[in-house]
Amino acid sequence: MADSIAINVEGVSKRFGKTLALDQVSFQVKPATVHGFLGPNGAGKTTTIKLLMDFIRPSKGKLEILGKDTRANSVVLKRRIGYLSGDFELYNNLTGSQYIKYMSHLSGVKNQSRTLELVEDLNAVMDRKIGLLSRGNKQKIGLIAALMNDPDILILDEPTTGLDPLMQQKFYKAVRDHAKRGKTVFMSSHILSEVQEVCDHVTFMKKGKVLETVEVSNLLAKATRRVVLTVDKNVTMMAPPKVLGASNVSHTKHTLSFDVPQADRKVMRWIAMQPVKDVTINEADLDSVFMNLYEDEEEV
Ligand SMILES: Nc1ncnc2c1ncn2[C@@H]1O[C@H](COP(=O)(O)OP(=O)(O)OP(=O)(O)O)[C@@H](O)[C@H]1O
Ligand SMILES: [Mg+2]
Repeated sequence: MADSIAINVEGVSKRFGKTLALDQVSFQVKPATVHGFLGPNGAGKTTTIKLLMDFIRPSKGKLEILGKDTRANSVVLKRRIGYLSGDFELYNNLTGSQYIKYMSHLSGVKNQSRTLELVEDLNAVMDRKIGLLSRGNKQKIGLIAALMNDPDILILDEPTTGLDPLMQQKFYKAVRDHAKRGKTVFMSSHILSEVQEVCDHVTFMKKGKVLETVEVSNLLAKATRRVVLTVDKNVTMMAPPKVLGASNVSHTKHTLSFDVPQADRKVMRWIAMQPVKDVTINEADLDSVFMNLYEDEEEV
């Protein structure tokens, strides 16, 4: 397999008894990118991640990380992977510091400066027993353990669960920095704004199947923008001209709203000619794209 692929999943199916959890799943993750893995509950995200970690075996298909078969090279690969499970069990009787020390020992982390940096960045509570920590504070310990050996591949199952907004932002920065340093991040999520903010690519899953893998910037470029004009006079007679490609036009007494494919110069020029008191243009939002994608799929 080419070096230009960090993670390769090819025709993977996984059956648990009668449940076909994954059905011919294929996608690739490019090196030095952040790749989101999105889908509703039960879509097969955690199952795919467990397969990549070689915790379970596929019924069919091939999984490769850094060009190596995940099963044949399980031990070698684990040293290069940082992993955070969706429902990770920490050692409740250890303090954060003791747990991190233990994990560093297991994964052969020599340089502790990265760990200290993470502890400070995430403001982690290290001196209390893990069993006594809140959900978010436990999650931070798990994240530190996943990131501390500066892994080539970071695999995270819903990493921001329980983190408050400030910590989420810090985590996003840590993930982006990781990719900037040439490492690869693969993370499952339910949170669209998160994917929009940190991911370069996203694979959409539904009912064990891949719907598609797309570049987030392309996806957003395709999304419409909603323009809302507030004007002094009664606007019911106002309408954007056809040339703007507007849709979903609606009025209230003093506002005119419509969607445009892009908030380009044409749109701006037209707005400037109106008796405008206020304008908002909502930037493209992955939510609407995501919903469309899933609704379309329902009709198939
Ligand atoms: N060990 C198991 N035995 C039987 N069925 C399983 C097992 N693990 C997962 N499944 C089934 O496989 C399907 C996919 O589950 P999975 O946990 O991968 O979904 P997910 O996308 O991670 O969902 P969520 O967003 O809720 O975390 C579900 O129907 C689930 O019930
Ligand atoms: Mg899951």
